[in-house]
Amino acid sequence: MIETVHVPLEGRAYDVRIGADLLDRAGVEIAPLLKRPRVAIVTDAHVADLHLKALEAALAAEGIASVSLTLPAGESTKGWPQFERTVEWLLEQKVERRDVVVALGGGVIGDLVGFAAAVLRRGVRFVQIPTSLLAQVDSSVGGKTGINAPQGKNLIGAFHQPALVLADISVLNTLPKRDFLAGYGEVVKYGLLGDAAFFDWQDQNAARIAARDPEALAYAVKRSVEMKAEIVVRDETEQGDRALLNLGHTFCHAFEAATGYSDRLLHGEGVAIGCALAFELSSRLGLCSQEEPSRVREMLSTMGMKVTLADIDGDLPDARALLDLMGQDKKVIDGQLRFILARGIGQAFVTSEVPADTVLHLLQDALSER
Ligand code: GLY
Repeated sequence: MIETVHVPLEGRAYDVRIGADLLDRAGVEIAPLLKRPRVAIVTDAHVADLHLKALEAALAAEGIASVSLTLPAGESTKGWPQFERTVEWLLEQKVERRDVVVALGGGVIGDLVGFAAAVLRRGVRFVQIPTSLLAQVDSSVGGKTGINAPQGKNLIGAFHQPALVLADISVLNTLPKRDFLAGYGEVVKYGLLGDAAFFDWQDQNAARIAARDPEALAYAVKRSVEMKAEIVVRDETEQGDRALLNLGHTFCHAFEAATGYSDRLLHGEGVAIGCALAFELSSRLGLCSQEEPSRVREMLSTMGMKVTLADIDGDLPDARALLDLMGQDKKVIDGQLRFILARGIGQAFVTSEVPADTVLHLLQDALSER
């Protein structure tokens, strides 16, 4: 069964289609968007090996010709050199204003290709076919596109909504366990930020999710996308509510910087640890009971996810240095750290009123558990 989540942005509305074996239907799904039967696909070497042939065949079955560019896999692709290469390749392929570019891959490919589509001839349409859990539940939906700068992650980019998102649950079977669980960190985030019933569902279905039961995965992706779509429609360009999607991220960005954006800590792992700390902070500030952070930690451990700083291998800087790294987050406004805190599971809110000392002590305690 294919589920649809509609993202009703005025003038830029689109569907997110979610289901098993969706890649095989890509031609049928994409055909209605095309003015001529031809698309340009951009992917990475790892995903190309696994899924490019299936996509090309599905397009060809509907009479859609395709050309493809395969970029190197990995975060370092998400910078100026591969971006320039992509834009120039799209021009060489004579992709026109009315054509459609297809991004086949995880967050790196989706962000880079979306940004290329945003600037190519002042904007062409693009289709996201996210192949990681993280990309399916977060980065492929909502129109944030961009690349990293030497000064920091995601500092160059544009809001450019996709014309269609195809989230094929079956491709998640090819993900290594660690990547799958890291992506699941973002799913947990949605329950924590705005839907206690979804958190309970995750708790009750932990074993099915870990076993990648297709029905459970489809529901997890659908509910996450629904929540993201609701927030994006309320606040597309992050003037307010969209910041809720950054639950756990202020901590996460500091830990990612401290570990050199290496595979010592994947983004979704940092989000999970960050969510647990955001709840601990909320409890220390008297916003929620002590039970809530314990429930969060318990659910993450049950899934076999990273929960605390003790789960990060190797050295970490001291609490003061971590706090400084948090201050370099791009979401800082007028030097004020912004946090997403919670009055309980499913009740997150944005605030700048967090005493730095409380955060410092929290980080000291978290480091002392190592
Ligand atoms: N990943 C956060 C957002 O899309 O706003």
